[in-house]
Amino acid sequence: MASQKPDLQTTKKIFSQWNREKLVNYAASLSKAMGAERAKHKALTSQIESAKDWLQGLTLVEEIGQHLSSTLNLDEVLALLLKRVTEALNAEDGSILLTEEISGDLIFQISLGAISEEIKPFRIPKGEGIAGEVALTGVPIRVDNAQKDKRHFKQIDIDTGFLTQTILCVPLLTRQRVIGVIEVFNKRSGPFTDEDQVILSSIANFAAIAIENARLHQRVLAERDRVVLAQEETSRKLQRDLHDGPTQLVAAIQMNLDFAKQALKKDPSLVEKELDEIIGLAQKATHQMRTLLFELRPLVLETQGLAAALTTFLKRRQKDERTALHLTVNSDRPDNAIPRLISKSEMAIFAIVQEAVNNALKHAMAYNIYVSLDLKKDRLSVTILDDGQGFDLNAVSNNYEDRGSYGMINIKERAAVAGGNLAIKSAPGAGAEIQVNILLTPGLLVAERDEA
Ligand SMILES: Nc1ncnc2c1ncn2[C@@H]1O[C@H](COP(=O)(O)OP(=O)(O)OP(=O)(O)O)[C@@H](O)[C@H]1O
Ligand SMILES: [Mg+2]
Repeated sequence: MASQKPDLQTTKKIFSQWNREKLVNYAASLSKAMGAERAKHKALTSQIESAKDWLQGLTLVEEIGQHLSSTLNLDEVLALLLKRVTEALNAEDGSILLTEEISGDLIFQISLGAISEEIKPFRIPKGEGIAGEVALTGVPIRVDNAQKDKRHFKQIDIDTGFLTQTILCVPLLTRQRVIGVIEVFNKRSGPFTDEDQVILSSIANFAAIAIENARLHQRVLAERDRVVLAQEETSRKLQRDLHDGPTQLVAAIQMNLDFAKQALKKDPSLVEKELDEIIGLAQKATHQMRTLLFELRPLVLETQGLAAALTTFLKRRQKDERTALHLTVNSDRPDNAIPRLISKSEMAIFAIVQEAVNNALKHAMAYNIYVSLDLKKDRLSVTILDDGQGFDLNAVSNNYEDRGSYGMINIKERAAVAGGNLAIKSAPGAGAEIQVNILLTPGLLVAERDEA
């Protein structure tokens, strides 16, 4: 058999055809693998970048946390917080708004940038605008185009000349309660991101605690000042009462004794009358001193409660006054009883009646002063009404600074201490009525067994 030699040309052809196919396939799979590697690399790089951002964010959170716990001054806490947050999130501006407890409105506390002073008087009604919605729902909001967002409060932009483009707003939450919001505006490098939101929310979490602590501290300081003022006021009143009452009477007793001594030498028949007068003055002085002691610390209030203490108070006062003092107690409980309240509330109510009756005696020129305690279900009303000349409520409220009197202010503060709502009605010529309405919640009532 003749051997067949492969034809070189054919071999080359076959090989190169096979090889080319293989090479093409190989190249294709290589390029695919490289593409995948590149994508992986890209993903890894971006993961590293975002890990870096996170780390920066966490460092910032920790750093702000440390700073915030270093001060209890509310203004300092807010300023420091806002400065660091806007810097870190690369925002053009920012602001912090706190919720007003009674109205639920948001009040601007601080904002950065040139417009900060202009923005300060603003108040945002409850639930309105982006900040209002965040405060109401407790959920953060991010806006990429503020001018097109209907919720954005454009009036603030108009008034301040600041053009808001992007917004990130998160709630300040403590104990499941929104106490305000913190917002940043116009990130310089594009819209705010998920990470920005997470970082701001983490900062807001302990910023809220720092703000709450600073507010508590402020309240404690204000309370301390109030206690000092109240003590000063009590000593002033005591001084005045001692001066106008018993001191005058003791001086009169001294004069009458001198007179009696002289009469003894010149005309002994006058002495008995003089001595009677002296006895009368001494009795009056004793009564006034006892009344003063009673009013300083009405023990009967501690032992028997409001109705008994008010009865004693009005009886003692009636002795020195021509105005008729009346007390009525109406209760829907057996024996017309008024339940015992915690001592703080009873003392506050007693002090309100004391001041209102003193005012009516001093200023009203009334024929009658009516004090009443009315209890229906769980509502207690305490009313002090007079038929005197009345007064202009607005005028009196507006010039406290000038007069330096504290009576009405004390009545307001004590109504709050008693846990009640205060209503004052008066007009020139129409008498005056002061009423405190208290909802008797379990926390205000002394438990029956403690009472026994
Ligand atoms: N029942 C009342 N009738 C008429 N005027 C009143 C009555 N109660 C208060 N006023 C007016 O309101 C003002 C403010 O009362 P307030 O108790 O705050 O001060 P004050 O009695 O003058 O001083 P203080 O209570 O500090 O001794 C009084 O000066 C008086 O003009
Ligand atoms: Mg007064």
